[in-house]
Amino acid sequence: MEYDIKDIALSPAGEKRIEWADNDMPVLKEIRKRFEKKKPLNGKKMAACLHITAETANLARTLKAGGADLVLCASNPLSTQDDVTAALVKVYGIPVFAVHGEDNRLYYNHIHSALKHEPVITMDDGADLVSVLHKDYPFHCEKIYASMEETTTGVIRLKAMHKSKALKLPVFAVNNAATKHLFDNRYGTGQSTVDGIIRATDILLAGKIVTIAGYGWCGRGVAQRMKGMGANVIITEINPLKALEAAMDGFLVMPMMQAARQSDLIVTIAGNINILAEEHFKAMKDGVMIANSGHFNVEIDIPALERLAASSIMDIRNNVDEYKLANGNRIFLLGKGRLINLVAAEGHPASVMDMSFATQALVTEFSLKQKFEPGIYDVPKEIEDYISTLKLKTMGIEIDELTDEQNKYLNSWELGT
Ligand SMILES: NC(=O)c1ccc[n+]([C@@H]2O[C@H](COP(=O)([O-])OP(=O)(O)OC[C@H]3O[C@@H](n4cnc5c(N)ncnc54)[C@H](O)[C@@H]3O)[C@@H](O)[C@H]2O)c1
Repeated sequence: MEYDIKDIALSPAGEKRIEWADNDMPVLKEIRKRFEKKKPLNGKKMAACLHITAETANLARTLKAGGADLVLCASNPLSTQDDVTAALVKVYGIPVFAVHGEDNRLYYNHIHSALKHEPVITMDDGADLVSVLHKDYPFHCEKIYASMEETTTGVIRLKAMHKSKALKLPVFAVNNAATKHLFDNRYGTGQSTVDGIIRATDILLAGKIVTIAGYGWCGRGVAQRMKGMGANVIITEINPLKALEAAMDGFLVMPMMQAARQSDLIVTIAGNINILAEEHFKAMKDGVMIANSGHFNVEIDIPALERLAASSIMDIRNNVDEYKLANGNRIFLLGKGRLINLVAAEGHPASVMDMSFATQALVTEFSLKQKFEPGIYDVPKEIEDYISTLKLKTMGIEIDELTDEQNKYLNSWELGT
């Protein structure tokens, strides 16, 4: 078996971590049991480019149980858990090409290694795998049954590819499933972003002025949790409807230029570039902390910060770099501007990934049931209903059912007031 990981000897710790996460992934476990018996993915070659964490390991185990011949590579150089990669290879027999902290060249080499496996199903978190596939192996695209996309930014990139008629394979926008973004982005990114910031800085959030750029699914999750910890939260937006929602949810809303002047901590989570740029850095208070939990490392204009800095100290503490501007003000950049919840914490908690990855597993199975033309597809409603019903059941929550009378009322136009 070919693979490229940090150290196979780390496998016992990785196995414990994977099993611990599995305790909180009952829906995926249920699917794994069925996959083991039915083998719906029998022999299909797969390549998945995801954050290589304990939760992803449980998805990989599930796909393998379903009969997939799977290889994994990382979708982010800093989120790879090296003990998990070791256990995936040694204990679960799944080839992995990922090393925590790998440079750009190795990151792309690993994507190429995964594609050399000649997958017929692919899975992405940010669309890097599909993008390399189209650029360097275009002839292989027609052999792909489908690809699954896990995150908002990936779906945006793929939609742009489709619009310009470049997309040569069908993609399921797993991110857009309610069982994914309503929970994973809001509660998963919400909690783990706060967790990452606290682990990196050990600051008290109560009483701080915290600005969140972007009031999408992730942003509102972070904002709610910051508020719950006692921070005074400011939202910046470019979408009037989202800005209005933020205002009515009780947050202050203002342009970034204004927010930058007063904030103690600024978190970008907008899926857009240069949300924090030169003019904002110049306006910030001494000692401000800035972090990104949105898209790769592009939401904070780090080259501009480097240009402006009269001096800098890397790793003033783990995951904190200090940049001192000519006016003497210090700006602390957390996690080098990469996703702080993955760099400084452990990414999304398993319970929420249970739903996202159950969706991934069931869509993988579904993608083999018929031929799909190139394009972007939604996750079928039956899959979403199945997952939410099962998740509720595993949480011990029961709900009411419509009575026949209520059903009739809701489906009739004749019955009025
Ligand atoms: N850290 C993680 O683990 C994690 C998890 C899921 C998603 N993400 C990433 O987080 C980002 C946001 O995801 P989402 O699901 O919340 O997306 P979303 O589309 O629901 O929300 C993004 C929001 O940002 C706003 N925005 C865009 N440009 C802006 C600007 N210049 N200033 C202020 N606001 C701006 C948009 O109007 C929108 O409301 C994406 O890049 C996504 O890939 C990260």
